Amino acid sequence: MNESMKSELYQSIQYIAQSYLSSYESVSDQRAVTIADKETIKRLRNIGFPKTGRPLKSVIDEMIDEVYANQAIMQHPRFFAFVPSPATPVSWLADVLTYSYNPHAGSWLQSSSASCIEQEVIQWLCQQAGYPDSAGGLFVSGGSMSNLTALITARNVKLTENEYADGIAYLSGQTHSCVTRNLRIMGLRSEQIRNISTDDEYRMNVTQLEQEIIKDIKKGKKPFVVVATAGTTNTGSVDPLHDIADLCEKYDLWMHVDGAYGGSVLISPKYKHLLDGINRADSITWDAHKWLFQTYGCSMILMKEERHLINCFSTHPEYLKDAVTENDQRNYWDWGPELTRPARSLKLWFTIQALGTEKLSQMVEHGIQLAEWAESEIKKYPEWEIITSAQLAIVNFRYASYHFDEHELELINAKISQKMIEDGFACVLTTKLNGKTVLRICAIHPDATEADMRNTIHLLNHYANETGSEYKKQNISKK
Ligand SMILES: Cc1ncc(COP(=O)(O)O)c(C=O)c1O
Repeated sequence: MNESMKSELYQSIQYIAQSYLSSYESVSDQRAVTIADKETIKRLRNIGFPKTGRPLKSVIDEMIDEVYANQAIMQHPRFFAFVPSPATPVSWLADVLTYSYNPHAGSWLQSSSASCIEQEVIQWLCQQAGYPDSAGGLFVSGGSMSNLTALITARNVKLTENEYADGIAYLSGQTHSCVTRNLRIMGLRSEQIRNISTDDEYRMNVTQLEQEIIKDIKKGKKPFVVVATAGTTNTGSVDPLHDIADLCEKYDLWMHVDGAYGGSVLISPKYKHLLDGINRADSITWDAHKWLFQTYGCSMILMKEERHLINCFSTHPEYLKDAVTENDQRNYWDWGPELTRPARSLKLWFTIQALGTEKLSQMVEHGIQLAEWAESEIKKYPEWEIITSAQLAIVNFRYASYHFDEHELELINAKISQKMIEDGFACVLTTKLNGKTVLRICAIHPDATEADMRNTIHLLNHYANETGSEYKKQNISKK
C-alpha cells in the first residue's frame, strides 16, 4: 500500500467516525423514517460501475447522503415499529474493530481466541437462562436462522429419517412467521404444521395443544416439536412455559422457545421471573440485535444439551480435516449451518466489558418503563382504547371514537400511522389483533424519555382528530 492510499484510508476512517458520531448525537432531531424519492433512486441507478476507481471521499459522501440518509432509523429513540434495534455506539465500535481484523470464526485454527470468547459468552447467556453445565450454543445471523437451527436439531433428535414425512410441529397463531417459513425450508408440508389458538392474552392455548397432540398420535403421526414464544412480536405475550414443558415431557416432544425478542429480560434481576420455566426448554432463540443493543447480525441459539448441535451439524470433509481440535476447542463450523462465519460474539462481549452487566440490565428495564408511560398517556384520551396492556415493552391501542363504525375505524387507525410516518417525529405502525387494525408501540431504546412517549401519543391523538374530521367531512359530502 503506498503512502497516499494509506493517508486516504486514515482520513476516511476519521471522517466516517465523525459523521457517525454527529448523526448519533443528533438522532432525536432527525426524522424516524425517510424513504428515498424517485429522483434519488434514479441517481443511484445511474451511478453504474466505473472502469476506473473514484476517490474514497466522493464514494463515502455519496453513501452518506444518498444511501444511509434514506432509511428507517431503527436506532432512533422514537422508532417504535417492528422490533427496533437501538444499537449502542459501543457495539458499532466493536464492529469496526472486529471487521478490521476480519476473523473467520469457523474453526479453532482460524480464530482460537474468538472461538473461546464465543464459548464464554454463550456459557454466560446459558447461565442467565438457568441452563445446566451441559448447555451450549452458538451465534448466528438472526432470530430466523436461530429458530431454523433449533428446529433442524429438534427433528434430528426426535425423529428418524423415515419418520420425517409424518413429523408434526406445533405453533400458535402468534408465533413469528419465520418459524412456518423455516419448517417449509425443512421440507414440511402445510398439513404437518398445527396452528394452536391463543387465549385472551395471546398466549398459546395449552388445552388445545394437548388435544391436537393426542389426535396426531392416534392418527400415527409423529409430533416432534412445540415452539413456544417468550415475547411475541405482536403483543410481548409469553406462552405458558411450564405448562408447555409439562406436555413436552409427557409426550416426549422437543420444546423450543423463541425468545428472539423477549429473551433479553433474562438479564434483568427485576423481570427475569416473567420468563419462568424457560430453563425447561430444549432450546432457546435470543437475539442480541434486538434488545441487547447490538448492530445487526447477532443472534444466539442456546441448547440445553450442546452435544445435539454437533451430532446434527458436523461434517468431516478431507479439506477441513487439518483443523483438528482438542477437548474444549471448538470448530464452530461443526455446530451450525454456517461454515464461514464472522465472529459475532465479539461485539456482545465487548459491549458487556465496556458497559458491565448491571448497566445492560438497567437498559433493558428502561424499555419496560417506556411502554408503561405510553399506556398511561393513552389512557388520558377518552377516545382511545388499550388493546393489550404494556407487556415486555409492547403496548397495542387504537383510536375508537364512537362517531365511527368499525370499518371507518380500521381506515382511520391505518391513516394515523401513515400520517406519523410522513411527519417523521416517530414511527408507529399497525398490526391486526382479533381482526382489528391497532397501533403498536415497541419501545426499547435506552435513550428514549418519558417526554418522547407522551409527545408521541399526543401527536397520534392530533392525527386521529385530524383524520376523524376529514372522514366526517367526506361522509357529509356523500349524503
Ligand atoms: C419473536 C421473533 N422471532 C423471530 C424473529 C425473526 O428474527 P430476525 O428478524 O432476526 O430473523 C423476530 C423478529 O422480529 C421476532 O420478533
